[in-house]
Parts: sequence; structure tokens; C-alpha cells
Amino acid sequence: MENKILVTYASKYGATEEIARKIGIVLREAGLSVDVLPVKEADNLRGYAAVVLGSALYMGRWRGEAVRFLKSNAQTLAQMPLWLFSSGPTGEGDPVKLVEGYIIPLPIQALVNQLHPRDITVFHGSMNIAKLNFFEKWVLDKVKADIGDFRDWNVISAWAGSIAEALRKDISSADIERTMK
Ligand SMILES: Cc1cc2nc3c(=O)[nH]c(=O)nc-3n(C[C@H](O)[C@H](O)[C@H](O)COP(=O)(O)O)c2cc1C
Repeated sequence: MENKILVTYASKYGATEEIARKIGIVLREAGLSVDVLPVKEADNLRGYAAVVLGSALYMGRWRGEAVRFLKSNAQTLAQMPLWLFSSGPTGEGDPVKLVEGYIIPLPIQALVNQLHPRDITVFHGSMNIAKLNFFEKWVLDKVKADIGDFRDWNVISAWAGSIAEALRKDISSADIERTMK
């Protein structure tokens, strides 16, 4: 299926997975065919027309499996429509400001630039203290992080809607090209 969209995610405790699932729902509602998969299971991009990749942020970085996915599929991803998101900051206010202006973590910025993503965004994240280990609780205490679910589903849905819109335009211009041939 040439027009299938892959929404793939790296999530430790499930918050990013739920964001990816929401994006999948919005894209399906827009009539697109979508797979939503953990990035560890997304080893083959054959058959996909576009990729949406998201990772949780831990200590200013994307999760290793998301970085490995970007690196090992860089050549293919550079030829595809690609959207990237991070799920991370908690607390009120602009999530990009909360991550100190880094729309994408510094260690992967050069790689991401080579892939020319259509858009990159940062969503507020969610932390459930009951799920965290001792070290994680200690870190959060040190940095005085706000605990709770700060995800804004309207913002997430709107971003997914903009992807659907862009893909619809791609598909219809491809159809026009085909009929003109
Ligand atoms: C130990 C620890 C470190 C974190 N570091 C960051 C960080 O550097 N930047 C950020 O925005 N969020 C950070 N977070 C918040 C998580 O990224 C956020 O809760 C995310 O939504 C979790 O996603 P997940 O449930 O999919 O793993 C951290 C959370 C923990 C527990």
C-alpha cells in the first residue's frame, strides 16, 4: 500500500505512545491508512509514503531506539515526507521555551537537518510519579520538575490535522501528475 503512513514512537512509560496513538486516530479520521508502531518494531519502511516519529525526552535527549531508527534509516527518511515530535516538558507555558529553545535535542540536530523534516514540534509530556524509579524521582526532585499530565490533546490533534492536510495535498498533486501523463 503506497499511501500508508507510519506513526512510530519511543516511549518509556507510555505518555509518548498515547500521543502517537492520538496522531494515528486523527490521520485515520482524515481517511489515511496508518500503522502506529513502537520504533523497535518499525524496521522496514517499504510500503510507507510518510513517517511521523516521536520520542520521549530524558535528560535532554531522545531515547536511544529513536536515534538508532533515525540513523539506520537516514537515507530512506531523507527521501520521504517526515514529521518529528518530542514529548517532554511538564509545567505551564510554551513547551519549546521549557526545553530551553531546543526544538530537537542538540546531539541529533545535524542528523535531523540532513533529513529535511516537514515539521518538528515539542509537546508537553506526562509523568506519573508512581511509575518512576528511585533515580528518576531523585533527578526530578533536584530539577524541581512539575509532576503530572501536561499533554494538550487539542494541540496534538491540530498538529496531526496539519499532517493530514499536507499529505492530502501530496496525494492529490500526485494524482494530477498521473492523469497528465
Ligand atoms: C528522569 C527523567 C528525566 C527527564 N528529562 C526530561 C528532559 O530532559 N526534558 C524534558 O522535556 N522532559 C524530561 N522528562 C519528562 C519526560 O520526557 C515526559 O514525562 C515524557 O512525556 C515521558 O514520556 P514516556 O512516558 O513516553 O516515557 C524527564 C522525565 C524523567 C522521569
